[in-house]
Amino acid sequence: MHNKLANNHLPPKPYMAGQGVPVRELHEGHRSEILKHLLQLGEDDRRLRFGTQTPDEVIHHYVEQLDFSRDAVFGVFDGNLKLIGMAHLAYLPEIKGEPHAAEFGVSVLPEGRAQGLGTALLQRSAVHSRNSNIQILYVHCLANNKAMMHLAQKAGMAVEYAYGDADAYLKLPPANPGSIVEEAANEQWADFDYALKENLKLAYQAWWWFLGRPVPAR
Ligand SMILES: CC(C)(COP(=O)(O)OP(=O)(O)OC[C@H]1O[C@@H](n2cnc3c(N)ncnc32)[C@H](O)[C@@H]1OP(=O)(O)O)[C@@H](O)C(=O)NCCC(=O)NCCS
Repeated sequence: MHNKLANNHLPPKPYMAGQGVPVRELHEGHRSEILKHLLQLGEDDRRLRFGTQTPDEVIHHYVEQLDFSRDAVFGVFDGNLKLIGMAHLAYLPEIKGEPHAAEFGVSVLPEGRAQGLGTALLQRSAVHSRNSNIQILYVHCLANNKAMMHLAQKAGMAVEYAYGDADAYLKLPPANPGSIVEEAANEQWADFDYALKENLKLAYQAWWWFLGRPVPAR
């Protein structure tokens, strides 16, 4: 059974700032990072993420098919600029008379979990959806996905269960100046955070080069 105390063995939580987690919008140039991230998910996590067994070839195909001009993809990078968490916000085809909808899918690598990254990716996707005139945000997942169910309910999503699957959805209010500023502020913070990590990484590499030694893996 899930027990928060069981997380005591985990490293300190550098991202616990909640709203403060820097979430970047990803683009074409991140395709190989996204592929690397998804291929690192184990068998069980892939099943939870995609709802079925997902071999490497399917992941390759999924990543090749990502359309950054239509959908939105978000990511969180660790101190070594590794993509530690990512979310795909897929806009569903518009149906006349129906509310505009998008589907949210997310994954965080095991070493990044329970630090608020999944929550931050969901928050960022929700606010981006509002600002893109989306009225309903859906998450489709396996009903036994306790972590995702918890995350969805914490975000105020309604959950409906059927035949081992669960559909969580959130009715979003329209965009307002607050939601636009919130997204812009998070994007700026994420750009700043990324630039800082990039400079630190370069300085670290330069230091080892100066010592004439290979850069140790971090
Ligand atoms: C679901 C997932 C994205 C969560 O990522 P995360 O970064 O750990 O999420 P957060 O840290 O923001 O929040 C996780 C919450 O779930 C809780 N949780 C974790 N495992 C749980 C479990 N088995 N039962 C109940 N709650 C659980 C955590 O305590 C935390 O709650 P809190 O914020 O109230 O303390 C991650 O577990 C994952 O990538 N899973 C595999 C892929 C997947 O299932 N994707 C979702 C389907 S699209």
